[in-house]
Amino acid sequence: MDIIEKLIADHQQVREQTFVAEKLASLIDSNAFFWDNATAVQRFFEKEVREHFAIEERVLFPVLRQVVSDWERTMLEKIESEHVQILKLLNELSDISKQHIRYPSKSTREFFVKVCAKILDILMPHARREDEELYPVINKRFTDAHYRQLEENLKLFKKS
Ligand SMILES: [Fe+2]
Ligand SMILES: [Fe+2]
Repeated sequence: MDIIEKLIADHQQVREQTFVAEKLASLIDSNAFFWDNATAVQRFFEKEVREHFAIEERVLFPVLRQVVSDWERTMLEKIESEHVQILKLLNELSDISKQHIRYPSKSTREFFVKVCAKILDILMPHARREDEELYPVINKRFTDAHYRQLEENLKLFKKS
């Protein structure tokens, strides 16, 4: 699987998280069951989403920026600003988990569900917009030279 295919497959995984988030809301009354599932969601956000954003920002977007039209550039900027917003919420979510370890309570669980929903509310349309509007630019405009640059950036990313 090449890197673009991997990033698109990641977007699909984001969609699957909504089921987990719905399940979380239904487990709100049980501290143990809730956190078993909450930890899985959080691990997904912490590992997969953070890495996905880093690959987009450091590997893909620098090459994309060379081929976008004006309105596509505006879209790319919006997409980048959403990364910032989502990363802030991910930090908030990780703080809530830490708080839970010290003070387990229903209000902590409710807060977790709320922030989780906020993240997905931004992340879902974000991934959809990338699939429908941003990523098609790759197919349309990338030449072999751009793909080679992508490979180079990926190598550097993996080394860092
Ligand atoms: Fe993104
Ligand atoms: Fe993405």
